[in-house]
This record gives sequence, C-alpha cells and structure tokens, in this order.
Amino acid sequence: MDSIRITGGRALSGAIPISGAKNSAIKLMAAALLTDEKVVLTNTPRLRDTRLLGELLVDLGMSVDDGTPGALTLHAPEITSTIAPYDRVRKMRATFNVLGPLLARVGRAEVSLPGGCAIGARPVDLHLDALTRMGAAIELSQGYVRAFAPAGLRGAQVNFPFVSVGATEHSMMAAALAKGETVLENAAREPEIGDLADFLNSMGAKIEGAGTPTIRIQGVERLSGITHAVVPDRIEAGAYAIAAATAGGEVTLTGMNPAHLSALWPLLRQAGADVTLADTTATIARDPAARPQAVDLETQPYPGFPTDLQAPFMAMMCIADGASIVRETIFENRFMHASELMRMGARIDVKGREAVVRGVATLRGAPVMATDLRASVSLVIAGLAAEGETQISRVYHLDRGFERLEEKLSGAGAAIRRVNDGGDGSEEAAA
Ligand code: EPZ
Repeated sequence: MDSIRITGGRALSGAIPISGAKNSAIKLMAAALLTDEKVVLTNTPRLRDTRLLGELLVDLGMSVDDGTPGALTLHAPEITSTIAPYDRVRKMRATFNVLGPLLARVGRAEVSLPGGCAIGARPVDLHLDALTRMGAAIELSQGYVRAFAPAGLRGAQVNFPFVSVGATEHSMMAAALAKGETVLENAAREPEIGDLADFLNSMGAKIEGAGTPTIRIQGVERLSGITHAVVPDRIEAGAYAIAAATAGGEVTLTGMNPAHLSALWPLLRQAGADVTLADTTATIARDPAARPQAVDLETQPYPGFPTDLQAPFMAMMCIADGASIVRETIFENRFMHASELMRMGARIDVKGREAVVRGVATLRGAPVMATDLRASVSLVIAGLAAEGETQISRVYHLDRGFERLEEKLSGAGAAIRRVNDGGDGSEEAAA
C-alpha cells in the first residue's frame, strides 16, 4: 500500500493548477444517465471516486471512455441494469446518486443504502422524501432502497428542513424529467449545484434559481447529449491556499474561481497571509519566518465556510500564535484528524462539535494515518510545516479527491513523495 512522505519546513513557491471539482464531476456523471445521447465532460479530474463511479455506470449500461486526458465521454443508449449493489455503494457514497436518474429515466432502481461513514451517520432521508413527493414508491429492505415510478415522476413541492447538497442535487436530477413543476425550498447553494443546473439546462432541462434557496424545475420529456466543462474544484483550491499560508512562501493557484471561496479569503488574511485575487487565479503569500495568527472558524453551508476545509484550516491553526476555536456544524464526527495532528505535537481539545486549538511554535513529523479525504490533506499540510519527516498511511483516502497531489505540491517546492510500502492498496472505505 502507498504512503506519502513529506520532509517539512520548506516554504512553497510557484504555481499550482486546480483540477475540475470531484464533487461536481461525480454528480454530472450520474446525471448523464438521464439521456440516451453522448455526454462529454471536460476538465474532469482523474480520481479514485470518478473511476469507482465509472465502473458502476458501466454495469448500468453506460460506456465510459477516459482515453482523452481531462475528458470523459459517457453514453448510455440503453439502461441494461437498474441495480447499484452494496459492494459498489459502500466504496463510495455518491454512487447512491444514480437512484434518481435511473428512476426518472426508466421508472425503477434498486440501490444499496450507503450507510454511515467516518465523518458521521449521513442518512439519506431527505433524498428519499423528495423522491416520494415526486411520486416514487419506495421500499427499504435488506439494506437496499427499491424505488418504482412506472408512470414516471411528477413535479412536487419539496421543503428541505435543513440544507443538503446531495438531496438538492438528487432532486434536481429526478425533477428534470418529471411531469410538471418541482419547487425546491431551502435548497443548497454550493457552486456544484450551479454547475449541475448549467449542465442539465444545456441538455434541455428548465431549471431556474440554482444558487438561491429556491430552485424551480419544469420537467421536460427528454434531455440531449452535450459537452460541458466541470467547474473548478474550490475545495482543492482552498486546501492548497491553506497549505501555502501554513508553510509560507508564495503560491499562485491557476484555473480556479476565487469567488467560490469568499468565506476563506478573509480568514486567511486575518491569519496573516496576503491574498491577491484575479478572475481565475489566487496568489497566497506569507512570510515563513512568522507564525500565522489564530483565527476562529465555524463551518456553514455555502456561502459560509466549507466543512471540507475545516480540517485543512485546523492544521494551520496548530502552528498559529494564539488559540483558535473551530466549530463544525455540518457533520457530527468530523474531528478525527485532531488526534493524528496531536501525534505531531498539536494541542487540541475536542468537545462535541467544538475544538480548541492552542497553537505551538513547531510541529514534529510523525507517522500518521489518514481517516477520510479532507482529514488526509490536513495531515499533508501539517507535514509541510513540521520539522522532520511525516509519513501518511492510508493514502487511498487522498486519492479519492486530490488529483496528482504529490506532483502539484512538489512542483511548488515541497519535499513530498509517494512510497509503495507493499500490499495491493485494495483497502477501501466509503466517504
Ligand atoms: C456533500 O456531501 C459533499 N459530498 C461533502 O464532501 C460535503 O462535505 C458536504 O456536501 C457538505 O458540503 C459530495 O458532494 C459527494 P449534505 P452530502 O447532504 O451531499 C445530513 C468530501 O470530502 N443529511 O449537504 O452528503 C448529513 O448527514 C465530502 O468531498 C441528512 O440528515 O452532504 C449532514 O449532516 C465529504 N439527511 C448534513 O445533512 C439527508 O438525507 C449535510 O449533508 C441528507 C443529509
């Protein structure tokens, strides 16, 4: 199995290109099930998650061609299976998102329930409630959701009790082919929602209001094939911005959209970084000789501070001058990185959904274990700033969501490499 080795203490400098967003690409891939025509996704990251979803889509009757770098050609002229088995869904929760598109296109689907994962219980009740309102008959048995809508889905009023990215996206995909109007209230506003709406609208869907709390979808009879560029990955960009602010130096992130990280920039500035934004780039600079300043943080749905950047930001706070309070409001168990960071000398007290991080002058490299995708990158960031060598095991978590991480960071001057420690790397976990 692979591990990542980092020799810390070097400032970063140079440019880091940002890939297409994993969390958009995987929804767009599932949405390609809605048409019998060819869909080409450009700016697609090559990741473990896109590969795993691609394997499931092939089982369902889609051809998935990733022969051109950065592009995925998807074509499902016929749906040949409507089953997403446990073994696939357990490796990657987002495979659950094929339920709505299958139901909308062929009127039935049998999809394993994703179950909990390291960061929390993560139920799918909001997804199922929305599909039920659209007329689906849903049974839960033996760990599977069996859903039927033989006469097609119909438009519905859906008021989400709280914001859910996945349930908003799932409802948009299903409603695109439903009869009549669907209104989603208290919808998520993440940029990935806007990307999905743009994608579906180019295919012929009628979706208005994406990016606001109310989304209206007029169902259409069919959707057509298109070519679409995946939105840049704001979480990858945010993680590298925090890495630059933690290690010090000057890094320019390219091919990104700085407007999608409006909650991060003020906090980086408060922490002592210079942040210069342009249309598609962000330059982050910080004097490596000084420590970052402590800053408090609370995660919120977009446009608030993203939960997916909470662990990376906490890594920076570990070496801050002062104490910082980090509150996680989205997931109930998203502090697993704290105990690994403490192995590197960090001082963190976790109480429920709040962590108090008391900055130390120096972290020390240590063997640490990745527990989930965003926790893993926090260990990379801590490793960049630490004295000595950090060895991160269970790198398959990182491979789910960071394309060519070692190459991108070593291109910016980091001493980071991947080592194969033996084993086949088949250890897997859903997230
Ligand atoms: C998406 O997860 C992302 N995943 C997550 O990124 C991200 O952290 C999260 O949105 C929040 O931004 C993908 O896009 C694949 P939610 P999602 O539904 O859609 C609860 C990463 O590392 N909830 O907005 O699953 C849920 O348990 C991942 O890339 C219900 O109770 O998040 C959570 O507490 C991790 N019932 C809260 O809502 C439901 O039916 C928000 O979850 C649905 C959600």
